[in-house]
Amino acid sequence: MEERKRALSGIKPTGNLTLGNYIGALREFKKFQDDYETFIFIADLHALTLPIEPSFLKNNTKDIVAFYLAAGLDPQKTTIFLQSDVSAHAELNSILINFLYMGELSRMTQFKEKSQKLNHEAIGVGLFAYPVLMASDILLYNADIVPVGDDQTQHVELTRDLVHRFNERYKKEVFIMPKAVKPKVGSRIMSLSDPTRKMSKSDPKGDIFLKDDINIIRKKIMSAVTDTGHEIKYDPENKPGISNLLTIYASLSDITIEEAENKFKDITQYGEFKKTVADKVIEVIEPFQQRYKEILNSGVIDQVLSEGAKRASYIANKTLRKVKKTVGLYLHE
Ligand code: AMP
Ligand code: TRP
Repeated sequence: MEERKRALSGIKPTGNLTLGNYIGALREFKKFQDDYETFIFIADLHALTLPIEPSFLKNNTKDIVAFYLAAGLDPQKTTIFLQSDVSAHAELNSILINFLYMGELSRMTQFKEKSQKLNHEAIGVGLFAYPVLMASDILLYNADIVPVGDDQTQHVELTRDLVHRFNERYKKEVFIMPKAVKPKVGSRIMSLSDPTRKMSKSDPKGDIFLKDDINIIRKKIMSAVTDTGHEIKYDPENKPGISNLLTIYASLSDITIEEAENKFKDITQYGEFKKTVADKVIEVIEPFQQRYKEILNSGVIDQVLSEGAKRASYIANKTLRKVKKTVGLYLHE
């Protein structure tokens, strides 16, 4: 039997997940588990690249496992695990760090954005080398596809460069070429208070958190920044607020942007439009929150993680062995 293709992705437990995480990543993951051998992990080592309170990190980690399950990931089909449980990630990282260059890492948008906020003397080496660890995550499992939001595609591109470089150097196909897969609609959800800025979990203003009270969610959507016009049209340049709300609506309704535009073509009151968007978001998020709470209280999380760690380690260690052999590290009994 031909081996199934593999899908892999992860989320950093650095804060409360947002509607952007849900639309760009979480809800996409389960679409792959029937056709791909799927690995979805919690990028907890990546969460250490900026200072974080230990108890906050720990709670976020548990939360994400519960969110994965609430979003429909089935542990029988998808290997769900913690990055830090599989030591091969750190080991492959220490080999691959020699295959990416200072120049290319310093051009990464995420690094530039995050390091800009810091004093140069206080930029952690881990923040700079972040894409090396991310490449290790992807390559350990020989993932064919990597479902991510827009902001992560640059890191996947860099991983592709690394694969090319590594395979060329050793004249064999050690790693498979991975490909980023973005959601059809909603790969970049913007902040509701400033629709020119990405919705992100480190910036609470105008962002919808998956754990927000339903009334707060409605309030945030009703007060989303729009323009002074009255047309519901997709035009990210001139109407970023309306375009963002249309994107959210289209994504959660599983329709295209054009279909969403069409639905609202006779509406001229932004208030009425926002109310319909809020209803849709709540229709999706309310049962999701309910499942999340049940899962958190059910005690299944540790079991899912311990089984996931075993499965993931088995595959990751096989790849690591192959890489060690390739580069000339001496393997013995
Ligand atoms: P992070 O929160 O950086 O760990 O991101 C986890 C996943 O969510 C990645 O695939 C991101 O690309 C995706 N993501 C994060 N923020 C957004 C957003 N505002 N819109 C769409 N996808 C997002
Ligand atoms: N860098 C990703 C983010 O910030 C998280 C991540 C780490 C990831 N390793 C990965 C995503 C491997 C996909 C594949 O969102």
